[in-house]
Amino acid sequence: MDTLLAVRASGITKCFGDVVALDGVDLEVAQGGIHGLVGPNGAGKTTLLGLLLGLAVADRGSLEILRTPVGRALAAPDGVAGFVDGPGLYPSLTARQNLAALAALRGPGAGTAGIDEVLDQVGLTDVADDRANGFSLGMRQRLGLAAALLTRPRLLVLDEPSNGLDPAGKRHVHGVLNRLAAEGTAVVLSSHRMDDLEALCSEVTILATGRVVFSGPLGKLAAENRELDYRIVTSDPAAARRVAAGTPGVRIADDGAERLVVRAPVPALDELVVRLVGAGVAVRELAPVVSPLEAAFLALTDQPQEDVR
Ligand SMILES: Nc1ncnc2c1ncn2[C@@H]1O[C@H](COP(=O)(O)OP(=O)(O)O)[C@@H](O)[C@H]1O
Ligand SMILES: [Mg+2]
Repeated sequence: MDTLLAVRASGITKCFGDVVALDGVDLEVAQGGIHGLVGPNGAGKTTLLGLLLGLAVADRGSLEILRTPVGRALAAPDGVAGFVDGPGLYPSLTARQNLAALAALRGPGAGTAGIDEVLDQVGLTDVADDRANGFSLGMRQRLGLAAALLTRPRLLVLDEPSNGLDPAGKRHVHGVLNRLAAEGTAVVLSSHRMDDLEALCSEVTILATGRVVFSGPLGKLAAENRELDYRIVTSDPAAARRVAAGTPGVRIADDGAERLVVRAPVPALDELVVRLVGAGVAVRELAPVVSPLEAAFLALTDQPQEDVR
């Protein structure tokens, strides 16, 4: 199965002086997969992505990128593109000039995609001739993505690509990443946005203080059948509260105010919905208060829910 892996990292350790940024990290990214890296600030996400881009080398462990072992030299592995800590751009050049400069640096015949094509893919056609220094963070992120696309990468590495994106920008970026993955490119990205990761990623790795606390398909997190808090909106809140109180496995988790929040495993939640409908109470909305990924993230990284949002 190794031939299907774009990244195979094993026992990766990286220290900065006394700080252990990565502590025995294993990571496998399938070719054609979108893999999300999640973790609190300082968890080691940027450090790990930097290793994939050849910006630094690990102190210990082995790293194979696109089936090629990464040596001790600082070099961008062939077929890899992306950025950490924001894309490097020439502020006084326009979007189109930035891309032309990058294409020229790589020289002719490098198998590059067309500049107009990548500008269109990231939704920057209308501002192609505006200078980058007038761009918002979200526009700079998209221009950085366009620059990476120029090389037609087989592994795309993006650090917090959703930062600063408005809904339209996000739609472009998600569209680009999904299309690349469908064509066989592997994508590794970090994000603080659980909703983005849930929408995009086939697999996630959760890092906390340099260690992997979970790695695998999102479904595996959800399948752990942990209890979640669900917000329920019904046609008759008082009746719904009584029915919930009488349903085995369901606990009322709110403060008794307007909204009804219950904590329950999925089978008990199903039973509650059946009972509500049986009692003539219509269910208008039912959604987890935090998403399954966010709940797992908070539980695995020991952060109380109140600290977030
Ligand atoms: N160049 C560096 N020099 C010193 N410490 C660093 C450097 N890069 C990262 N670190 C430290 O390594 C740890 C992981 O950082 P980082 O990979 O940036 O985390 P994340 O991206 O998850 O927020 C942090 O404690 C950070 O302070
Ligand atoms: Mg970071």
